[in-house]
Amino acid sequence: MQTVESIKALRERRHEWRDEGKRVGFVPTMGNLHDGHLKLVKKAAETCDVVIASIFVNPLQFGQNEDLATYPRTLAEDKKKLTAQGADLLFLPTIEEMYPRGLEQQTFVEVPGISSIICGASRPGHFRGVATVVCKLFNMVQPDCAFFGQKDYQQLQVIRLMAQDLSMDLDICGVATQRASDGLALSSRNGYLNDEQRKLAPMLYKTMQDVADKLHQGDTNLMQLSKSAVDKLSQYGFKPDYIEIRNGKTLQAAASDDKHLVILAAAYLGTTRLIDNLEVFR
Ligand code: PAJ
Repeated sequence: MQTVESIKALRERRHEWRDEGKRVGFVPTMGNLHDGHLKLVKKAAETCDVVIASIFVNPLQFGQNEDLATYPRTLAEDKKKLTAQGADLLFLPTIEEMYPRGLEQQTFVEVPGISSIICGASRPGHFRGVATVVCKLFNMVQPDCAFFGQKDYQQLQVIRLMAQDLSMDLDICGVATQRASDGLALSSRNGYLNDEQRKLAPMLYKTMQDVADKLHQGDTNLMQLSKSAVDKLSQYGFKPDYIEIRNGKTLQAAASDDKHLVILAAAYLGTTRLIDNLEVFR
């Protein structure tokens, strides 16, 4: 696998592949790769001719008190894993390459509505940072198809809407969440958990599964279901941020007859913020 740091070198390879008529798959990441990221690379390799991955810890999507400075960086291992999984090119831009005029002067991409609810309400500016960097990466890589995890459900919907609203010429492919054997969704932030917290962490998914079971059984009191799930998580020792049952597409409040719902959860264990979600089709 070749690694390039400049947009110029990236475009040269990209243009060669275009001339050869190759379908290019793209997997953007912030590194510290685990089996969840690698599932996206695998899917890209299965459905495209060549796979470009990127690693860039995007300062624009981190809040002031978030973990930008301590975000885990494991480049040597990441490269080995990408190579083993069949990636052809790693794009590893510097901060100057991504934001040549600095963060203050940056033109932004805003996806209104969806960006200010749920995770967006807890993390103001986060989805503006995500949409902006993903739009820039799309312009640099010009992929035929880009792969995102359902683990970050709201992020996936934000990117789908951005691509639709800005008439971007690519497919957005969602990939199911990769979990540890005890159900915990794989995440780079799981590494922050101590042993005791790690043992507790799967209760987040378990609690969402209990809510899903009740929805399947015909329970329609969504407010009460969310509230008792939040109470349960608090009893286990989480500091819940939210558990919301929303329309699976718009992420707005679910109507009682909505067929496609999503349970979205965010909760702290100590200072580590875990997120997860579960779709429900009734
Ligand atoms: P990062 O957290 O590194 O995630 C990169 C991609 O991997 C995202 O699409 C994410 O949803 C997916 N992913 C993470 N954990 C997963 C799991 N357990 N199962 C399946 N997919 C998983 O998300 C970002 O980076 C950034 O916001 C980014 C899109 C790169 C923009 O900076």
